[in-house]
Amino acid sequence: MFDVNAIRAEFPALSGKVYGKPIVYFDNAATSQRPRCVLEAADRFSVVSNANIHRAVHRMADDATQAYEAAREAVRAFIGADSAEEIIFTSGATAAMNLAAFSFCERFVSEGDVIVVSAVEHHSDIVPWQLAALRKGASLRVIPVNEDGTLDLSGLDRILDGPVRIVAVAQISNVLGIRNPVEKIIEAAHARSIPVLVDGAQGIVHERTDVKRLGCDFYAFSGHKIFAATGTGVLYGRRELLEEMPPYMGGGEMVGHVTFDKTTYAPLPLKFEAGTPNFIGQATFTQALGFAGKLFADDAVEYTDGLTAYMYDRLACYPGLKLFGECRTGRIPLFSFNIGGVHHEDLALVLDKMGIAVRSGQLCAEPLMDRFGVTGMVRASLLPYNTKEEIDYFMESLDRAVRMLK
Ligand SMILES: Cc1ncc(COP(=O)(O)O)c(C=O)c1O
Repeated sequence: MFDVNAIRAEFPALSGKVYGKPIVYFDNAATSQRPRCVLEAADRFSVVSNANIHRAVHRMADDATQAYEAAREAVRAFIGADSAEEIIFTSGATAAMNLAAFSFCERFVSEGDVIVVSAVEHHSDIVPWQLAALRKGASLRVIPVNEDGTLDLSGLDRILDGPVRIVAVAQISNVLGIRNPVEKIIEAAHARSIPVLVDGAQGIVHERTDVKRLGCDFYAFSGHKIFAATGTGVLYGRRELLEEMPPYMGGGEMVGHVTFDKTTYAPLPLKFEAGTPNFIGQATFTQALGFAGKLFADDAVEYTDGLTAYMYDRLACYPGLKLFGECRTGRIPLFSFNIGGVHHEDLALVLDKMGIAVRSGQLCAEPLMDRFGVTGMVRASLLPYNTKEEIDYFMESLDRAVRMLK
């Protein structure tokens, strides 16, 4: 039986207060809080193995290297990749997608080629491709989104036609909280031998993900959204593609031999990990993913689905509230909305004074704001450590805030 109080007890931040009120943390899509096992591991690594990895022969460095590589193996197992060499550590999903966009396009994209993204992408799955397209003389095509927040795949054949070199799409939108039909997109793209990058920044948290079953060629996510330390992230890539791609950054430990005439590169994954990484942060993936795995147990999923349905129904009947992504099924507990006559930022500020942390603004998805004709939204995003009581308090507070602001 899922015990939310036992889960909450693992997160010191959740018993904190803001403005003297118990915190209601509904900004989990931006950053999750960290459980004790992660906080303690980071402290421990900082004391007993704070030495640079992959370099020195001394014991402390060896311990640090082992913790870092154990975390790589934990990530591999968590996402079902074939080999730890296909797991590249980065500073986050943004860095992962910049790496993929730069290196993939350097090798596989040329003038006149096309890169496909979807209308619901986060800026970090748009701008790196735009930068690459600019460098290479390529262009972007966009899979549109329907009014209810689902992707419109009716024109997919046409979108994938011609010199399309890669498709990049979010597993779950960070604005709409809706699962995208990535399997269908991958199938259609692969039928034309086009590789697909999946932005898993939200997906990894809410969906048991196996990159082999999904069939994607690249998968990117951040550690700080799934309980690990901040400044951590992953790019999974299929070995054949990663082998072909040039390095993204040059520097220490990514080399084979260096002379002034020529440099050869280290084998995967170090070819893509120049310089000293955030080795203490990355090492916390072991504890973070161990914890996250428990939240995919049947009783935890049932609990989360209950929270999602409860909050959806409460919001759906709130007068004057427009929920973006109205689709009730296939969604995670993430809700972006506006209330007629109230500015999103004002609402978020007043809720903050009531102890509630939500996100407001463009949510790093300006094209999607334009699509829905708004300048911003309020976003409440939950994790299985949130409760129905918090949702009740949120709804009461929303009501008070709206009456103050109207
Ligand atoms: C769908 C999606 N992609 C990418 C990112 C970027 O993640 P980060 O800022 O951790 O690099 C986010 C962060 O909110 C996201 O939600």
